[in-house]
Amino acid sequence: MYGKEIKKVLITKEEIASRVRELGEQITLDYRGEPITLVCTLRGASVFFADLIRQIKCDVEIDFIAVSSYGGGTNTSGEVKMVKDLSSPIQGKNIIIVEDIIDSGVTLSYLKKLLEARQPRSLKVCSLLDKPSRRKVEFEGDYIGFSIENEYVVGYGLDYNQHMRNLPEVCVLAPEVYGG
Ligand code: IMP
Ligand code: MG
Repeated sequence: MYGKEIKKVLITKEEIASRVRELGEQITLDYRGEPITLVCTLRGASVFFADLIRQIKCDVEIDFIAVSSYGGGTNTSGEVKMVKDLSSPIQGKNIIIVEDIIDSGVTLSYLKKLLEARQPRSLKVCSLLDKPSRRKVEFEGDYIGFSIENEYVVGYGLDYNQHMRNLPEVCVLAPEVYGG
């Protein structure tokens, strides 16, 4: 299967697909046919995003934003910078930010504040994964796929130094890889 850089598969393809379907159904119900703009945070959320939008039965627009918080390795630098802004204005729109993982909470706190200032009609956050034990700032997502332990994960869009995003499962990285 995988080489020694992967400790184990944490969430299988089937588990992901079934949870993504549930999240899509929940969002569809909550917005009752109202239009939604889904904002994909590049690059980690891209795989989740592509699957999620197809499970939402509302009038959907998509947009992309990129911010960076990680200099490299497995720990956040605590600083967030905008790398690519949205292509369209969001004033008066229902926005859902789609993220791969909430870790320290720093990235999403920054993003939410940034987008809130543009006066959307509503602003929520949907994250595939959540590591609540790692928070440095208080932050709670509105839609969470899976809450996980404090282990560094890769695959299904998530990377280690830009590698392994293409693994179809969410896997735990072997601590030897990053000296953990
Ligand atoms: P936060 O600002 O610390 O919440 O970091 C959020 C970002 O850190 C995520 O969007 C990911 O890109 C990255 N990240 C945090 N934990 C992991 C992990 O376990 N694997 C891969 N990326 C992670
Ligand atoms: Mg990310």
